[in-house]
Amino acid sequence: MNLIRFDSHRAWVRGVASWWRDRLRLNPQLTMCLPTGLTPLPIYEEMVRSVRSGHASFSQASIWGLDEFGDIPRDDPGRLENTLRRHLVDAIDLAPDACHFLDPSRPDLDDQCRRFGPAGGFDLVLLGIGANGHLGMNEPGSAADSPTRRVELHDSTIAAAARYFDHDRLPRWGATVGLGPILSGNEVWLLATGASKADIVRRIVRDEINEELPASLLRRHANCSLLVDADAGARP
Ligand code: PGA
Repeated sequence: MNLIRFDSHRAWVRGVASWWRDRLRLNPQLTMCLPTGLTPLPIYEEMVRSVRSGHASFSQASIWGLDEFGDIPRDDPGRLENTLRRHLVDAIDLAPDACHFLDPSRPDLDDQCRRFGPAGGFDLVLLGIGANGHLGMNEPGSAADSPTRRVELHDSTIAAAARYFDHDRLPRWGATVGLGPILSGNEVWLLATGASKADIVRRIVRDEINEELPASLLRRHANCSLLVDADAGARP
C-alpha cells in the first residue's frame, strides 16, 4: 500500500481528481466501484467540473455503487444511491444503463448481490474509511473473501449514519460489495480527510493486518493507495 499525503485538502482534491482523469484517459471503459459518505464528495464535484470543461469523460465508463442502506425509502435524500446521483452521476456524461446500485428493498436482494459488479472485476475501487476501519459496510470481523451481501451494521456505524439523514429513522442493516470483490479490484484508492480520521489512518498503516480491521487487509493489495490530506495523515 502506498501512503500519499497531500499538503492540504485542496491539494488532495486536485491530486485525486487528476489521477482519476488519467485513469479515464488510459481506459475510457473503466469499471468503477464508488462510495458515498462525506469524504469523496469534493472529488466528485471536481470530476463534474472536469467533465463540464471537457477534461474528462465517463461516456464509455461504468459505475457500481459500493453499498446501500436497508429500510430507507427510495426517495430519501440520505439514501446512498440518491447521494451519488446528486453529487456525480446526474451531472456527468455517464450512459443511463452504465450505473448500477443495489436495492435492498427488493425481495431478490441475494440474487442482486450475486450478479453485482462487472464480469472481469473492478478496474478501480474508491473507498472511504469508517472510524472502526470498515470498508463499505464490511464491518470488523468480515472475512477477506466475503462476497457482496446483506450485512448488519455495527452500533458505531448506525450512530455515524445520522449525519447523512435529516430524520432519526436510522438504518440498522444494508447491502455491500464484499471484501472479496474489493480486494480483487485492479486498483484501490482508500480516501481519508480531516483530523477525525488521523487515528484510523495510523492504525491502518501500523496495526497488524487483521480481519478485525478490514482496511488493513488492503496492505496485501498490490496496487492500493491510501490517499490522505495533511490532517488525516498527521500521525502515521
Ligand atoms: P465518511 O464515511 O466518508 O462520511 O467519513 C466513511 C465510511 O464510514 O465508510
